[in-house]
Amino acid sequence: MIGIIGAMADEVNGLKFVMSNVLIETVSSVDFFLGKLCGINVVVAESGVGKVNAAVAAQTMILKYNTDYVIFIGVAGGLHDALKIGDVVIASSVVEHDMDTTPLGDPPGYITGLDRVYIDCDARLADILERCARETGLNTLRGTIASGDQFIADDDTRNRLKNMFNAYAAEMEGASVGHVCAMNGVKFAVLRTISDTADSSSHIDFPTFCKMAAENAIKVIKASITQI
Ligand code: ADE
Repeated sequence: MIGIIGAMADEVNGLKFVMSNVLIETVSSVDFFLGKLCGINVVVAESGVGKVNAAVAAQTMILKYNTDYVIFIGVAGGLHDALKIGDVVIASSVVEHDMDTTPLGDPPGYITGLDRVYIDCDARLADILERCARETGLNTLRGTIASGDQFIADDDTRNRLKNMFNAYAAEMEGASVGHVCAMNGVKFAVLRTISDTADSSSHIDFPTFCKMAAENAIKVIKASITQI
């Protein structure tokens, strides 16, 4: 079973509408859509925004639906200079940029328990997503994605995430799903498309381009699902 999670309706509806044999189950206020996507068994959920919501959806998928893979999809704020609105970022690793135990001597982003800063994504899954994104005609980069419970919309924070974590994109869920998957030994990937550049124009760009960018991520999932 492949689990696919997006935070918002625009990030997953395009998948739900083309699934067949759909059964809907609600757990912890999240609707899980079970069915087939291009003939493959999937479970799709709209988690809600932020790290806790995404973690609850991921943990539920793993325990209740025994997912072999969890893929988080949706939009992000671009941090890498080469990224334009609509482009794709596939995570090589994820980092919780708001995890901060530095007063205790840990490096920024350090996750006590997992005992690391960066959580690696499954390389084979990332390869498939990257190849399919390119074949779909989308500009694609692979790099670290930074997650935190914060919409990034100013240059200072943007530069901090770029410089401190070498992050290519900022969003609010991927690393929490990576954290849950690492705790459970489940393979995961994060596929994001750029809706804004996490700066002072983001409050305008995000609502303007969110739907268009989210549709690009959905195209990539449809193109890659049979190869996973
Ligand atoms: N998702 C899309 N754009 C974002 C931003 N600028 N900050 C955090 N999450 C986002």
